[in-house]
Amino acid sequence: MRFARKIDKLFSIELFQSLWEHLRRSTHPISARKILATIDREKLAALPERYPPRAGARKINAYEDAVYWVGVNVRRVQDLWLDRPAPLRILDLGCGPGYFLYVCQFFGHQGLGLDTDENPLFGGITEFFGVRRVISRINPQTPLPELEEKFDLITGHRVCFHRLGRGPDGEWKEWTPVDWKFFIHDIRTRFLKPNGRLFLEFNPRPDGSFFFTPELRACFQTEGARIVRSKALFAADPNRRPRFKQG
Ligand SMILES: C[S@@+](CC[C@H](N)C(=O)[O-])C[C@H]1O[C@@H](n2cnc3c(N)ncnc32)[C@H](O)[C@@H]1O
Repeated sequence: MRFARKIDKLFSIELFQSLWEHLRRSTHPISARKILATIDREKLAALPERYPPRAGARKINAYEDAVYWVGVNVRRVQDLWLDRPAPLRILDLGCGPGYFLYVCQFFGHQGLGLDTDENPLFGGITEFFGVRRVISRINPQTPLPELEEKFDLITGHRVCFHRLGRGPDGEWKEWTPVDWKFFIHDIRTRFLKPNGRLFLEFNPRPDGSFFFTPELRACFQTEGARIVRSKALFAADPNRRPRFKQG
């Protein structure tokens, strides 16, 4: 009974935060149409045929659907107020097809993606968008490769790199708090500028539950994260309160 009440409360907080996000976005609207007008959608639609999935890999998400993905990424840009400040240097971890950085570049920011090269279509679409990317795999308790620059903002949307697959017992394995602490420390000390921020957004778990278990929430909060729904924002300085609207 007490557990059910806790879940209800969590849902009502989530609902309130979701409404708040909608409201904040409506204070600085962005025209997705203007961004879409810069994309040759016929050429984009032809890319999945040119870059089919590797043998055995499944086709995921219709990334050639620019209307949908530009819409998603317009909301991401609004949430971080990237339609406003001076040009930023942005690193997007697990950048996939590069829509987020494309929309950021539309607003004058400079982006760099990082991803594995498992999905040929991501190579094709990032190239089509003129999004630079580094090929690398993020592994637990392993420093990221040297990128020779520091960033104002580092993002990870629909983060997957913490998922380690199913163990022999059939249980889903993922990073532990120790792995997360290593990663956050590496990002803070090697890649963020003094006023920089790290933003991570997570999908629900395969069973549909929230990403933030009490253990992970506590771990992220000890690192100074501000958590809103399935999103976590960190300042470069663990003692500073990170702000979505900065500058
Ligand atoms: C769900 S997709 C999200 C793509 C993009 N961020 C978006 O929201 O549209 C997850 C991305 O993470 C990448 N990825 C998964 N595991 C990774 C790892 N260990 N290191 C680097 N990238 C990884 C995948 O290749 C894919 O591009």
